Amino acid sequence: MPVQQWNPRLYDDRHSFVARYGGDLIDELRPEAGERILDAGCGTGDLAAALAEAGAEVVGVDSSAEMIDRARERFPHLDLRVADLLTLEPDSGYDAVLSNAVLHWVPDATAAARALARTLRPGGRLVAEFGGSGNISAILDGARALRAELGLPEAAQEWYFPGVDEYSAVLADAGLEVTGAWLFDRPTRLDGEEGLAAWLRMFGSPLLADAPDPDGFVERLTGRLRPVLHHSGSWWADYRRLRVTALKPAGDRRRAEST
Ligand code: BEZ
Repeated sequence: MPVQQWNPRLYDDRHSFVARYGGDLIDELRPEAGERILDAGCGTGDLAAALAEAGAEVVGVDSSAEMIDRARERFPHLDLRVADLLTLEPDSGYDAVLSNAVLHWVPDATAAARALARTLRPGGRLVAEFGGSGNISAILDGARALRAELGLPEAAQEWYFPGVDEYSAVLADAGLEVTGAWLFDRPTRLDGEEGLAAWLRMFGSPLLADAPDPDGFVERLTGRLRPVLHHSGSWWADYRRLRVTALKPAGDRRRAEST
């Protein structure tokens, strides 16, 4: 998978909805004062900061050094680290793991779920949300059709958007007990008249790959998607979220301690 380049300031300015919607996850997680919580894929730090405000001892990790630099600038009091999800330190005994809008970037879902599960203490909980089956289908279909018309090769599928059953099996394989799983539409407003173009430039590099004129491609694609994704005076990304909650069974204590 090509490495996604992140521009943290642009991300904060134009894509703050990522953290805004993630606020629901904190309610779902119900952090308690003194709990040790890992924010896996913390981006520029908003949710880690909200967890800390709730009294948790938070560690935020992100694979992007640029994101962590920005998060440290914004929240110098937090413990923020550059780390890859797949190589998180095992048996770190977290009471909970939160992950928002990250797991669709990791193609090896099994490895990612196992890595997250290993960081939890027995009895610890996971709350995660990311793109689910059908996520951004209008954007993907529009890009595919335009690429075919322009004679460009098929775009590689760079994201992992599973359904409830598929992902529940991934969590079970990681030794977690699934306590809830929901797949739901969450159309997401993109700020400004340039909203979809900005989204495509920030996140859509696989869809633009090899286009000889990327700006022209974005212009044509947004024109094509306008009847579907521009309404009520705004652009809306056709996000579909998979939210999961899971527990690491307390019975895993001995196995966790002996490894
Ligand atoms: C998402 O959050 O659903 C998403 C973001 C960027 C690219 C693809 C999906």
